[in-house]
Amino acid sequence: MRRRPRRCETAQVETTKAAPHTPRSAPGPGLRPARTVVRWAVRHGLPAVLLDRGARRGDPVGRLLRDRSTREAPFAVYEELRARGAVSPGSLGLVTPSHTVASEVLRADRFGVGWDRSAAPRLIRWALEFGDDPSATGVAEPPSMLVVDPPDHTRFRRLVSRAFTPRAVAAFEPVVERTADALLDALEVHDGPVDLVETYAAQLPVLVIADLLGVPTDRREDFLRWGAAAAATLDPGLSFRRYVAAERALRAMHAFLREHFARLRREPEEDLVSRLVGLPDDEALTERELHATVMLLLGAGFETTVNLLGNGVVLLDAHREQWNALRAAPAGWDGAVEEILRHDSPVQITGRTAKPGATLAGREVRPGTRVTVLLGAANRDPEVFADPARFDVGRANARDHLAFSAGIHYCVGAGLARLEGVVGLRALSERFPHLRVSGRPVRRDLRTLRGYETLPVHLH
Ligand code: HEM
Repeated sequence: MRRRPRRCETAQVETTKAAPHTPRSAPGPGLRPARTVVRWAVRHGLPAVLLDRGARRGDPVGRLLRDRSTREAPFAVYEELRARGAVSPGSLGLVTPSHTVASEVLRADRFGVGWDRSAAPRLIRWALEFGDDPSATGVAEPPSMLVVDPPDHTRFRRLVSRAFTPRAVAAFEPVVERTADALLDALEVHDGPVDLVETYAAQLPVLVIADLLGVPTDRREDFLRWGAAAAATLDPGLSFRRYVAAERALRAMHAFLREHFARLRREPEEDLVSRLVGLPDDEALTERELHATVMLLLGAGFETTVNLLGNGVVLLDAHREQWNALRAAPAGWDGAVEEILRHDSPVQITGRTAKPGATLAGREVRPGTRVTVLLGAANRDPEVFADPARFDVGRANARDHLAFSAGIHYCVGAGLARLEGVVGLRALSERFPHLRVSGRPVRRDLRTLRGYETLPVHLH
């Protein structure tokens, strides 16, 4: 195999936006209005109706997912739920804010991420089948490993996890450092306010994951655009307009991947994607599985870590003494990153579906019941974390958080995310010790993920 110089290794961090590339849309089947409407209706329209009805009746899950006023601070709703108990009913099934119950559900083999479609009403089954479209499939739809159970999950996970072992991640540290330094060099020139998300927090993870996967880093602005659209599809109840925009982005991403896989089949390199594309027949992924796996790795690789970096800067700006203490004793950054993940978790919500024989907190749960797991609430459970709303980078058990989930779907990229968090924030604090948030940071209009869309700062 030919070894292509990795762009980050050669420190090619361009500061200007990449020139537009063609094609931007899928060469395959284009948007088909009827299918798109049906896809939207079954995946977003119907959940929106249920959640809105629930929200009007005061259901906390409905409010968390649909009520604009809970977006900034879902924490009050989490506490309301906690007051009702470890498990309570919600619009979509059951819901838990409890660390103990969340850990139990995420680790139990009687709960899965898949669900039995054959048990769904006929109309829903028809809609899922009619609306199915490989060119528009998102990261929260099968065969993405995030939403498939064993044995398929085991098969996909085994193929990718080799690239994320502690040793593989440690070997990547110099790349993360060089990438962060190059981005910070480019920031030196700014005298006035600058958006730290656009110029740093989003750039670092996208450049690192593109390098790791061997996809061209000069397409990063495309990846960021597509990733933002893909991230929106994690929230149930998207409006039709937002869904259509997301679907267009997903089609463009699939089209890029199709071309990229074809190129790697002709000229394989030494990266994870080349390996996945060139698997021997007995291990080979189908084309659809390949798209789902690489799309998830690429999207998950930056859509979450950008939030860790942004949330961290805002928290440390609000707790200046802790920022200063970390500058004086940089060994504390590992613990600080755990506390940021706990206190303002980049992924707030996930869920599981009960299989036959499932129990929860000692009670039987009907098969097919959806359990919404509020990771952000579990990470503020006072039974595990003393004075949980307090932000304290020295908290001894911060690492007990569930920000990376638990059980078989535990985040594959957790080690890489931690490395990017520590290197990214430490390098930022060393280069710009007087950095201050200037102006109001604006949250992303997302519920499952939690982070900032824009983060104005003064660097000097
Ligand atoms: C701060 C950054 C990150 C956070 C908070 C995060 C969080 C999570 C969570 C909560 C899950 C599991 C969801 C569930 O159980 O339903 C997950 C899964 C996953 N994450 Fe991450 N993640 C981060 C960074 C990354 C990175 C850098 C990658 C790199 C490729 C990555 C790749 C994945 C993949 C592939 C899965 C699916 C694992 C499976 O289903 O077995 N994540 N992540």
